[in-house]
Amino acid sequence: QRRPVVAIDGPAGAGKSTVTRRVASKLGLLHLDTGAMYRAVTWLVLETGVALDDEARVVETIAPAAIELVPAATPDEPARTYINGKDVTEAIRTTHVTQHVSQVSALPAVRRMLVARQQRYGDRGGIVAEGRDIGTHVFPDAELKIFLTASLPERARRRARDLEQQGRAPVDLAQLEGEIARRDDYDRSRAVAPLTKADDAIELLTDNLSLVAVVDRIAQLYRQHL
Ligand code: C5P
Repeated sequence: QRRPVVAIDGPAGAGKSTVTRRVASKLGLLHLDTGAMYRAVTWLVLETGVALDDEARVVETIAPAAIELVPAATPDEPARTYINGKDVTEAIRTTHVTQHVSQVSALPAVRRMLVARQQRYGDRGGIVAEGRDIGTHVFPDAELKIFLTASLPERARRRARDLEQQGRAPVDLAQLEGEIARRDDYDRSRAVAPLTKADDAIELLTDNLSLVAVVDRIAQLYRQHL
């Protein structure tokens, strides 16, 4: 019998990764960060020097790649991401990868390959998967679907705080807002599996909620939906 699946979707910078990791740890479920998979293949394509609009070569590069997500010892740290045995955990979070990931993710063949891997990973259930199309395409029959969001200024502030904590140079909030909005527009308007709230997803607007409050709310909804 399949264990439950929780789908967490939403725009960039809504805090999906942190929330999903903690929800998984609290509920004893596995965590699947599908954004890390799209980022890892984007890193590989950029590293290989393939033109991003050359779909055939992009597919050739990605198809044989081994992607591994290894959970960290504590839910405070992100899972480590490996592609073809190389640790790209930090490399996939650079501005360079972030600026190109939506373009690679919009290629239908890339989505087909990664969605198949995601579904295989979740076929026994017992996972919390986060991304853009989890509730709509990857696990459309998930027991619980959350659409996690926050206002654009709040998402930019959170992203700035993250970057600061990583010891990166201060960034301009208006510029961050612009980058986040551009990526969301790209993800919302692609032809295949665009970012959108599933009809049966519960929307959580987190502007005025603490991390603990968001995690507790999702855990409570999970218990109600089982
Ligand atoms: O969640 P994260 O910001 O790491 O996702 C990076 C990018 O990967 C998104 O902007 C989107 O283009 C792509 N993505 C996707 N489908 C998913 C998860 C991520 O297209 N399920």
